[in-house]
Amino acid sequence: MPACDSCDDTSWKTITVDGVSRVTRCDCVHTRAVEQHLRDARIPPRYQRCSLDNFITYDNEKLLSALRIARRFIDEFPHAPKGLMLIGPPGIGKTHIAVAVLREAIKRTGLRGLYHDTRALLREIRATYDPTLTAVESDVLRPVMTADLLVLDDLGAERMTDWVEETMSSIVNSRYNERRLTIFTSNYENIPDEGDMNSLLVRVGFRLHSRLNEMCEFLEYDGCDYRTLPPNASSPQDLYTNWKAQPRRKLPARSSGQARAQLRDKERGDGKADLKWSGGRAGS
Ligand SMILES: Nc1ncnc2c1ncn2[C@@H]1O[C@H](COP(=O)(O)OP(=O)(O)OP(=O)(O)O)[C@@H](O)[C@H]1O
Ligand SMILES: [Mg+2]
Ligand SMILES: [Zn+2]
Repeated sequence: MPACDSCDDTSWKTITVDGVSRVTRCDCVHTRAVEQHLRDARIPPRYQRCSLDNFITYDNEKLLSALRIARRFIDEFPHAPKGLMLIGPPGIGKTHIAVAVLREAIKRTGLRGLYHDTRALLREIRATYDPTLTAVESDVLRPVMTADLLVLDDLGAERMTDWVEETMSSIVNSRYNERRLTIFTSNYENIPDEGDMNSLLVRVGFRLHSRLNEMCEFLEYDGCDYRTLPPNASSPQDLYTNWKAQPRRKLPARSSGQARAQLRDKERGDGKADLKWSGGRAGS
């Protein structure tokens, strides 16, 4: 039994339009490509069913606006002018939205998409690091550089070292130069304050930060921490109430300690450091 009745698995079928028969590519080619690319996208099991349709919305203007822009991105992909940068506190659905966009973009176009948690990716690169290979020759990096759509989750969570900065810059730069779209998520606010240890700018460094500004539309929002919702509480009203009951949330505690460590590293001095530190709030 062929898997596809329309083409007997030949990938080609004959259609008749206005009495004229012609051979055309069967739809199953697209379906197979989509299935394969969804399997290859490395989406974590927890997020494999995420879609924008099962994302619960409530009266939260910035969140609604982020969703609108995410939908527009899907409609325009692969010709969207910019990628996306989703920023906000934990549990508000940034990874959910990023993965939903990734899945839908693959489904509609049959193009290649890839998900990576940034820290896990850096660990993977480090484990296979071979200084004699250029970045594009590395088995880990090649798909990251060449995927039509890449999600880099949790940017800024990694401890910044020169190697991290260089590796991230080369990934982002190569994608930028090839006009390939990238979706990032981060817990770190995009405040232009180089003295704030919790700003995205300080977390990722000047070079990467300026690239991000050029290549992404920034979607910053706050919202309900879905992970703290009691079981069965998932109505829009539940999410709204949870959101409003939360104090303005602080960034994860790990951040300031790591930023201080990073600051120490940089202060120890390496000529290449292009981060400027005012250090004003480093100890606070
Ligand atoms: N509005 C929502 N509707 C439906 N599910 C949601 C919503 N917000 C979050 N979730 C779910 O809650 C869980 C946590 O969301 P997610 O991991 O996307 O948060 P996040 O913003 O990426 O957090 P972090 O900053 O910690 O990475 C996921 O399983 C996600 O599907
Ligand atoms: Mg996340
Ligand atoms: Zn077919």
